[in-house]
Amino acid sequence: MISNHHQSVMFNESIDALNLINDGIYIDATFGRGGHSQGILDQLGDQAQLIAFDQDLSAINYAKEKFNDSRLTLIHSPFSQMHVVINEMGLSGKINGILMDLGVSSPQLDNADRGFSFNADGPLDMRMNQTIGLSAAQWLAQANEEDIANVIYQFGDEKKSRHIASRIKKFQLQQPLETTLQLANIVSEVVRGQKKKHPATRTFQAIRIYINQELKQLTETLENSKQILATNGRLSIISFHSIEDRIVKRFIQKNSRQKTLPKGLPVFDQALEKTPFTDLGKKFASKEEVTHNKRSRSAILRVASKN
Ligand SMILES: C[S@@+](CC[C@H](N)C(=O)[O-])C[C@H]1O[C@@H](n2cnc3c(N)ncnc32)[C@H](O)[C@@H]1O
Repeated sequence: MISNHHQSVMFNESIDALNLINDGIYIDATFGRGGHSQGILDQLGDQAQLIAFDQDLSAINYAKEKFNDSRLTLIHSPFSQMHVVINEMGLSGKINGILMDLGVSSPQLDNADRGFSFNADGPLDMRMNQTIGLSAAQWLAQANEEDIANVIYQFGDEKKSRHIASRIKKFQLQQPLETTLQLANIVSEVVRGQKKKHPATRTFQAIRIYINQELKQLTETLENSKQILATNGRLSIISFHSIEDRIVKRFIQKNSRQKTLPKGLPVFDQALEKTPFTDLGKKFASKEEVTHNKRSRSAILRVASKN
């Protein structure tokens, strides 16, 4: 049976950070199973709009079946295309807030046939958008050992990346590498698990990030948010690992830091300096949430306001 359960992380904190205006226009960049979207809709008035993106067709199909709200527009697309869609809708510069709850949803992890899980056997796919691109199995079959090692090292911080890549290539000389458990077993022969962490955690994370181009997607979308957001529009972004959070942190810092002006300039020239964003800080999930929802353990919420 297909699982559709997803418990939204930092639900109140991330929605509060949007500072909702009754008739505002908002974007949920990562609809998932719509927990955050529903929370936003519940607080908005009749004239408001929520535009929700997800690149996973199963998320969009779920939304079509379960959500019947004329204020909600669903877009099946990577969120990196947000600026194009919003421009076509004539809403560029009018968006009052963008929520991003990054990474994969529980249904993607829990349904073995999506290929994200090292605990259950399924085809080694890992694409959020199964309508385009290479599956993890296809990529691992055509990539060379060095490229595989680099991906596992860069996106997984895995010290044994070269050893794992070499084992993958050896395995493929004997038989095609096609399932999640085949990959999990190859990694487990090389890496020791730590505490409750499965040995293949970092390798699966790295390949998933690469297959879905997650960091490129995030970087481009943050940059494009500048043109989409209205003055005082909010960015509310939840990330789940340090590589992702570093991108969000650096973007907000870079765009909210006042440049030091050359000494001797008159004060009124300094007043002209306006940064694209104001940094409104970061939050972690409460202890209580972490005890109820393990996924929230690694969540970091960062918030910024457009100037
Ligand atoms: C953590 S879940 C979001 C859960 C959602 N906030 C909820 O409360 O149900 C992340 C979702 O974002 C989608 N996603 C991730 N990266 C994406 C991207 N670049 N473009 C569009 N959707 C993306 C995934 O397919 C997944 O459904």
